[in-house]
Amino acid sequence: MHILHVVGARPNFMKCAPLLRALRQFSQVRQTLVHTGQHYDAAMSDVFFRQLAMPPPDVNLAVGSASQAQQTAEVMLRFEPVLLERNPEWVVVYGDVNSTVAAALVACKLGIRVAHVEAGLRSRDRTMPEEINRVLTDQVSDLLFTPSADADDNLRREGIETQRIHRVGNVMIDTLVRLIPQAAMPSEFANAGRFVLATLHRPANVDDLPWLREMLATLTEVSRDAQVLFPVHPRTAKRLTEANAAPITNGRLRLLPPLPYLEFLALQQNAQVVVTDSGGIQEETSYLGVPCLTVRENTERPITLTEGTNTLVGRDIPRLRQELERLLAQPRGTPRQIPLWDGHAAERIAQILAQPS
Ligand code: UD1
Repeated sequence: MHILHVVGARPNFMKCAPLLRALRQFSQVRQTLVHTGQHYDAAMSDVFFRQLAMPPPDVNLAVGSASQAQQTAEVMLRFEPVLLERNPEWVVVYGDVNSTVAAALVACKLGIRVAHVEAGLRSRDRTMPEEINRVLTDQVSDLLFTPSADADDNLRREGIETQRIHRVGNVMIDTLVRLIPQAAMPSEFANAGRFVLATLHRPANVDDLPWLREMLATLTEVSRDAQVLFPVHPRTAKRLTEANAAPITNGRLRLLPPLPYLEFLALQQNAQVVVTDSGGIQEETSYLGVPCLTVRENTERPITLTEGTNTLVGRDIPRLRQELERLLAQPRGTPRQIPLWDGHAAERIAQILAQPS
């Protein structure tokens, strides 16, 4: 059986790595790895392949950055001939990035079966490109692997037959469980003391320059009480330059380059509080028991609110400041046990995918 995986952007890599590994246990399975090249910088891609011990991609479509439509279309155009040539039984796509929906559409139109890992998540916010990607990918997928019961409910509500839905747990947590023993605090942060870890990259937060400046001013203020470590996504780096943000930062708000997986994991584990707009980080902090303040009005991962450590602060600077003050004054949290977030989700997927059909 031939299974072809498609990854494109940073959050895909830690979801794909455990399934590649789990499927190696099945001698009848042959695997191909396609990287769309949506993320192409060494710091956004190569270092993740190394740390996650992923094989180099068999094919790199090298699509790079462009508008939503151009990037999605370019993946489709470049992926179609690859798929025609390789002709796998399954195409496996991950998460909610543009590469996910593009690859799923191409495969389903060629009559090749699609499996979606991390299916069913919904923010119900159609202004986010990821929400459109989720809804469309799920509609064209033959097998839908979900991390939580809310995802199953969302899919059934959208008319997807129950027998196509498999609740397997969280594959990103598989990677965390496997690699956390190797995640040591980088020596340059060893004397950071109590610190806040911040990441922001969503267009809604970083493309709105007055809002971005306000967020930065808040983090600068907070950094008087605790150092703020802020690894900066390339999109955010560009916007910070445009917003002329340097004068409103100080030495205790440290703007850092994007960090490799293990270094970032160590920072999450040791942070007093995390401030983010990422989806995956809401889950990782929940698993680790570290309080997370999400600078968004909604989340596609409600389980992190009900069973994890996540709080939505929305676009409300006084609330963010108040929550930060409260959490900085408290002892750090304890790890949470969320059903099926146990390090074995990919094995459950592999068992299902590798079945002869
Ligand atoms: C993408 C995903 C988002 C995910 C995020 C993780 C979509 C719609 N969005 O957003 O869901 O949370 O990845 O990082 O798929 N850039 C570089 N080097 C790179 C990659 C990007 O410089 O290796 C810059 C480019 O200027 C690009 C910008 O970052 O224009 C945005 O990249 P893009 O892939 O369009 O989306 P992300 O914001 O990274």
